[in-house]
Amino acid sequence: MSNEHKKIDTDFLVIGSGIAGLGFALKAATLGKVLIVSKSGISGGATSLAQGGVAAVLDKNDSVESHVEDTLNAGYGLGKSAVVRKIAGFGAEAIDELLNIGVPFDTVPGKPDTIALGLEGGHTKNRIVHVADATGRAIQNAYVEAIKSHPNIRILPDNCAIDLLTQHHLPKGHALRAKPLACWGDYVLDEKKGFVRTIRAKATLLATGGGGRIYIHTTNPDVATGDGVAMAYRAGATVSNMEFFQFHPTMFFDPGRDGFLISEAARGEGGILRNGAGERFMEGIHPMKELAPRDVVARAIDEQLRSRGDTNVFLDLTHKGSYFIEQRFPNIYEHCLERGVDISKEWIPVVPAAHYMCGGVKVDKGARTDIQNLLSAGETACTGMHGANRLASNSLLESMAYAHFAFETLNKYFKSIAPPPELPDWDDSGVFDRREWVIVRHIRNELKRLMWDYVGIVRSDDRLEAASRLVNFLMTQINEFYHQNPVDKDVIELRNMAMVAWLVIRSALYRPESRGLHYNSDHPGRDDNFMLDTEIRSSRFTPDIHLGEGLIGIA
Ligand code: FAD
Ligand code: SIN
Repeated sequence: MSNEHKKIDTDFLVIGSGIAGLGFALKAATLGKVLIVSKSGISGGATSLAQGGVAAVLDKNDSVESHVEDTLNAGYGLGKSAVVRKIAGFGAEAIDELLNIGVPFDTVPGKPDTIALGLEGGHTKNRIVHVADATGRAIQNAYVEAIKSHPNIRILPDNCAIDLLTQHHLPKGHALRAKPLACWGDYVLDEKKGFVRTIRAKATLLATGGGGRIYIHTTNPDVATGDGVAMAYRAGATVSNMEFFQFHPTMFFDPGRDGFLISEAARGEGGILRNGAGERFMEGIHPMKELAPRDVVARAIDEQLRSRGDTNVFLDLTHKGSYFIEQRFPNIYEHCLERGVDISKEWIPVVPAAHYMCGGVKVDKGARTDIQNLLSAGETACTGMHGANRLASNSLLESMAYAHFAFETLNKYFKSIAPPPELPDWDDSGVFDRREWVIVRHIRNELKRLMWDYVGIVRSDDRLEAASRLVNFLMTQINEFYHQNPVDKDVIELRNMAMVAWLVIRSALYRPESRGLHYNSDHPGRDDNFMLDTEIRSSRFTPDIHLGEGLIGIA
């Protein structure tokens, strides 16, 4: 392999090809050359799986202020109103952008010019713009179509980013080592060819999506191993609010097989949750019943399962009739039928599952991390929108908004960025193949089980302490394996999953209260002494930093 293929220089490196990465790439291509790297194909992220839709204020009876209020209510005091207002205010523009690239949103029957608006949990108005129950697939396909023959965009699918290129890759004594942390690209593994590229870029966007795969039960795709958060943390960026992992209340329950999501829109259209005895248990728990915020519904289901000893609860749509169900939820209807449940006649067995990472790499309103020339958007970023809980369908909107804000930031200062310095190629001297790959699969399963059992919907001090000890042990094993073996995608992912799990556990331990998605049975009440974001930054690079704003600082 010639060195030319191992080294690539570009203006913008985009890591991840979901809505955030592709949305940004399309805009950044008006400023310079864009290279997108994406592991496991181009459309393997969560965007393709999104069902419910995009929250946007389009109705004359709705208002940005109402969307802001609903979002802040769901966030339990940690959402940042200025950020939420900026994102909610971008809603109509985001929908225009999607219409322009050809996303065929559903319209009101008989009114082809009026976009149909659905309702989801925690929203007080109908504002969910959708394409039946497969909104994300339509969005992903439209973006892929728009970028695929763009002259300024190159795509490298099946390429897995390993680590960000920063000062610590420069030789000792290099003048830039004394300067503030900056990012100059990434080392990227070509999954098919098996070698590592050094990709240098003037600016890098981290858009690697979420990390639901750290849990055994999740709605997330295989690629959701939290790589962006782990890479950013290792490089010295601040990571925020990782204890707030959202569990979606309704994943199809299929023991032994990956489940799939039963959209919140199904409850928005009148779906009723029933326990094993057929009782509607959300009545009396919250005035919004099945449409209460997700943390409330997920905990209520968890309580039903624990107290009754059942494996699952049920979602009942049978009263909606088969015509309505097949029109509104064709994807869900087919999926359930394949697994033997006709949802127009039978209740759907459901359980909660890890769904969305509210925390992530801390960014400012311009999508900047605290490492120079490193920006982040989408589920990887912690923007301040969701606080302690995310409102349904706010993340596709947030991803588009931050892709746009990242573009605006670079539009302002891109011309003043100096070219990256010379950087060494990937060094794998000293590694040998121990051929003990079974260990990787084993540790991966152990980690996921541990997160589910000890760091799930309901936590306690003892369980978190135990999880902390166990994850530290697993991390030692993984790091040893990582450094001794040739680089491999499964090991890269496992190393990142363990890092993200560790960040979730540490953040949860730093919050001795219950707020939103973080529920600790030893501290069941909300304590506003802790009405602060959790922030963690590695002590390795910034030993004397004082973050000041967050709950904690260095770990
Ligand atoms: P993704 O779309 O997940 O893309 C991440 C990309 O990064 C992928 O291309 C992946 O291959 C790549 N990647 C990851 N690691 C690496 C690496 N190391 N190197 C290279 N590439 C890498 N939100 C809503 O607002 N509305 C909904 O209706 C909705 N429904 C959902 C349904 C499901 C089943 C799920 C799982 C999520 C849903 N969400 C919904 C959440 C929403 O889909 C995601 O938050 C959003 O799509 C994230 O977009 P993204 O661009 O940040 O990441
Ligand atoms: C869903 O359709 O229930 C998912 C919506 C979301 O996670 O925002």
